[in-house]
Amino acid sequence: MEVKTSLLDNMIGVGDMVLIEPLSEDTFIENLRKRFEHNEIYTYIGSVVISMNPYKSLPIYTAEKVEEYRNRNFYELSPHIYALADEAYRSLRDQDKDQCILITGESGAGKTEASKFVMSYVAAVCGKGQEVNKVKEQLLQSNPVLEAFGNAKTVRNDNSSRFGKYMDIEFDFKGDPLGGVISNYLLEKSRVVKQPRGERNFHIFYQLLSGASDDTLKKLKLDRDFSKYNYLSLDSATVNGLDDAACFRTVRNAMQIVGFMEDEVQSVLELVAAVLKLGNLEFKPESRCNGFDESRIKDKNDLKEMCELLGIEQSVLERAFSFRTVEAKMEKVSTTLNVAQAYYARDALAKNLYSRLFSWLVNRINESIKAQTKSRKKVMGVLDIYGFEIFEDNSFEQFIINYCNEKLQQIFIELTLREEQEEYIREGIEWTNIEYFNNAIICDLIENNKNGILAMLDEECLRPGTVTDETFLDKLNTVCAEHQHFESRQSKNSKFLTDHSLPHNCFRIQHYAGKVLYRVEGFVDKNNDLLYRDLSQAMYKANHSLIKILFPEGNPAKVNLKRPLTAGFQFRASVGTLMKNLLTKNPNYIRCIKPNDKKAAHIFTDSLVCHQVRYLGLMENVRVRRAGYAFRQAYEPCLERYKMLCKQTWPHWKGPAREGVEVLLKNLQVPAEEFAYGRSKIFIRNPRTLFFLEEKRRQCLEDLATLIQKIYRGWKCRTHFLLLKKSQVVVAAWYRRFAQQKKYQNIRSSALVVQSYIRGWKARKLLRELKHKKRCEEAVTTISAYWHGTQARRELKLLKEEARRKHAVAVIWAYWLGLKVRREYRKFFRANAGKKIYDFTIQRIMQKYFMGLKKTMPSMSPVDKSWPARPYGFLDGMHQELRRIFHLWRCKKYRSQFTEEKKATYEEKLAASELFKDKKALYPSSVGQPFKGDYVEITKNPKYQKLNSLVEDKVLLADVVSKINRANGKGAPRIFLLTKKSLVLADQKTGQVKASVPLLDLSSVSVSTQSDGFFALKLKEGSTSAAKGDFLLSSDRLIEIITKLHRIGAASAERNQINIDISDEFLVQFKQDKVCVKFIPGTPKNGNGVACKRKNNRLLEVSVPSP
Ligand SMILES: Nc1ncnc2c1ncn2[C@@H]1O[C@H](COP(=O)(O)OP(=O)(O)OP(=O)(O)O)[C@@H](O)[C@H]1O
Ligand SMILES: [Mg+2]
Repeated sequence: MEVKTSLLDNMIGVGDMVLIEPLSEDTFIENLRKRFEHNEIYTYIGSVVISMNPYKSLPIYTAEKVEEYRNRNFYELSPHIYALADEAYRSLRDQDKDQCILITGESGAGKTEASKFVMSYVAAVCGKGQEVNKVKEQLLQSNPVLEAFGNAKTVRNDNSSRFGKYMDIEFDFKGDPLGGVISNYLLEKSRVVKQPRGERNFHIFYQLLSGASDDTLKKLKLDRDFSKYNYLSLDSATVNGLDDAACFRTVRNAMQIVGFMEDEVQSVLELVAAVLKLGNLEFKPESRCNGFDESRIKDKNDLKEMCELLGIEQSVLERAFSFRTVEAKMEKVSTTLNVAQAYYARDALAKNLYSRLFSWLVNRINESIKAQTKSRKKVMGVLDIYGFEIFEDNSFEQFIINYCNEKLQQIFIELTLREEQEEYIREGIEWTNIEYFNNAIICDLIENNKNGILAMLDEECLRPGTVTDETFLDKLNTVCAEHQHFESRQSKNSKFLTDHSLPHNCFRIQHYAGKVLYRVEGFVDKNNDLLYRDLSQAMYKANHSLIKILFPEGNPAKVNLKRPLTAGFQFRASVGTLMKNLLTKNPNYIRCIKPNDKKAAHIFTDSLVCHQVRYLGLMENVRVRRAGYAFRQAYEPCLERYKMLCKQTWPHWKGPAREGVEVLLKNLQVPAEEFAYGRSKIFIRNPRTLFFLEEKRRQCLEDLATLIQKIYRGWKCRTHFLLLKKSQVVVAAWYRRFAQQKKYQNIRSSALVVQSYIRGWKARKLLRELKHKKRCEEAVTTISAYWHGTQARRELKLLKEEARRKHAVAVIWAYWLGLKVRREYRKFFRANAGKKIYDFTIQRIMQKYFMGLKKTMPSMSPVDKSWPARPYGFLDGMHQELRRIFHLWRCKKYRSQFTEEKKATYEEKLAASELFKDKKALYPSSVGQPFKGDYVEITKNPKYQKLNSLVEDKVLLADVVSKINRANGKGAPRIFLLTKKSLVLADQKTGQVKASVPLLDLSSVSVSTQSDGFFALKLKEGSTSAAKGDFLLSSDRLIEIITKLHRIGAASAERNQINIDISDEFLVQFKQDKVCVKFIPGTPKNGNGVACKRKNNRLLEVSVPSP
């Protein structure tokens, strides 16, 4: 729950001065003191923040504080500058109202610090992101750069802003920063050349000399020793608590973050160095012939170094310090400068150089931080202008600064008043005007176009003739004498004639913040701000990028004879623009007050604070605020804060907040004149009423706290009890469940055990029964088997006995018969009965044997070798004989079936067997072949008809044979005819007879032992056929041919036996030569058949495949 707090909580003194009671200057100061002493440096006057400079760092600017104040209502927390920054940022972001934060106060009151706190707060609460963070960082880092170049130690402030600064921070519609624009107002450039006692030049000079590296200093031709430079006052060269060297590093880093290039930084430092060098130039008079003195530079070393730094021709600059050219219309007049004028020129150049460098820096920063988008932006302006200054010796600068503060005061008065009045009108509250001091009259004294001091000064500067500061004062004395805020000794106003506090060369202005005495000396010069043209031209000629830009008027091509605008005029114009700009924005005020003049913490100088309170018009501010109604608050937060004071509104009010507040106030009996109902706010006239409400609220809160405590405790105990109860129920339920579960599990497991036992028992019982049944069945089977067996055996036994008995009967009968027969016939056969019985028995056995043999006779096939086994050993010889006889008989039977023709065939086969069996390997294959004789069908084939007719006898064999050619061993087919008398060889195709050999001429036939069909027909020497030589033939039917040949020879009348020669090597007579034919077993190359090859003239080799 969010804790609602208010600035009224834990208040030290009064957080809002409007509530102070009674209101007087004393109570006001006392309240400030009280808060200051408790480090409460911020106090409100309504929406205005009074900020006391604590002169010490307080832990109130932390990130936690930022978070605390973020998005909180202005009056919600104790007063803080963050509350104002948050309010401004939120109304900018949420209500689209451009804002400006006006920070005023005298020098050293803490304006610059306040502006930085505002900026850092806004940076912390606005959007985040890489680009946004870069913009924020650049905006924040512009401060150290500008402070280094534009701030200086003064008697009032160690870090006094010597220029006015107004920074517009630009945001997009989401409230993210886009960029910014900085405007600077009139740098106090006189400080460059001269500083009052106890003060310093601008920080950058000291920072450069202390912090730059030796190398950098060498490059810049500088020496670290401050005392070497005329422009640096030695009074307070070092400031307590200020580390110039560290600051220099910070500035360099900041310049880098802001986006300065390295060469730009170098150029800037060169210019700073040049200013220091310039200050060291000294002049001496040199008399000229015309009697005038002419200035000459004493020691040219510094000049030389400066010219080297800036790239200026030394002679040109030297001349510019000795002469001055005045151009008027077409004329150009050169006059010499005396020593004083040379010094004036030197200082003018130094001031201009520095102030222009400063303006360039501001522009350069603007270039870096400017928003990159052209879309409409929301703007928050932060104004940190030099504070109101009253020195011992006040000059033109103080006049200008105080004028600016005067204008700001005016805008404050106008806007606060207007805002207040507008609020009453907006809220419909009756309002009567309040008197307050309006400083418009002082502004008018200074800026009035006709007779204002600035106008007078300009007039004087432009006036021809001799113009001095005195003539200017005279003018003021005449024109402003009557003005009630202008005081001068010589004015027509006689009341100051005797005022010795007012010197003759001074005038005094009663500013809103007090009287300030201005010495007129230097007013005219400073207003003119003259730089001799020779000097600006010399600068323009410099070979240095930055210097050239800073002195554009030195360009000879753009000579402008018009007088430049005066400093006063420029300032007035820029302040005017600033005021207009501020009026377009919603103002937020921070009024800074310094508690003492000693820059010390814990010292609260009443008089000093009282003075500031007076001139800042803070009392009037409070009065205006209280004139109508001291306190106002929107209805919602008001009801929220006080609703506990009334029963109807507590704890919730259902209706509109306004009605709730009405009920509340009525209930509390607050007098009607004490408050007024606005449209959105309740206005409370008297702070007392508010305090009454607050007091009531405090009491009520105490009661409520007790009540809440009571309810809370009750609630806590009850909840605790309920929780315990609930827990107990849960625990009990869990326990019961657990116990039941356990019990159930026990019962279950017991049941299972019992069940298993019973089942086991039942099963065993069943098994036993089954086993019993089975055993019974088996027993029955066995018994019945045994019984059957017994029965069968008994029966068998009976049968056997029966049979035995029968047999015995038969045997006995036979014996008895035998006995009987023998007894009967003993008397008849006694002598040879044994032999007869023996014969009879043998007879019976033989009979039985033959009868059995008859039944088991083998088949009639002569090749059947089976024969029944012999039954009796004594019959063995006869049994074998009978087998032989049977076989012979069987063969005879077989033979007797043969025809004559078949008989002849078998005879031939027999002859073949006799000839070749076991002699020639071809024989077995011929056994199965019937010897047909005619294989070519010689009688039927018409092709051989002629051949047939030529043969006289009956053809016994006709077949195709191969006649082997002796030359190559190849065979030629020939018809082979065999008759009883001759053999004929004829051509197979034509049937033409090739040779006819009578069988009588044939002496022998040679064949091999192997399976080939080669045979040689050898002729008898000297026979008629022998002339042609032997025949070497080959035939598959060799066995048949040779057998037939042999049988013819054997059967012939001449008993011409043909010899059969079986040998693997034999000679054949081919005509004249005898050739040996040799048979070798082997694998012939040409297929599986027999191959004959001629080896030489005498040898034919026949290779026969092995069977
Ligand atoms: N809120 C603060 N907390 C701590 N110190 C502060 C605070 N405000 C101001 N100071 C101290 O006071 C000094 C002067 O403050 P600052 O420079 O802001 O004054 P100023 O009003 O800007 O003066 P000037 O008009 O001369 O520029 C600071 O350097 C710082 O030491
Ligand atoms: Mg300042």
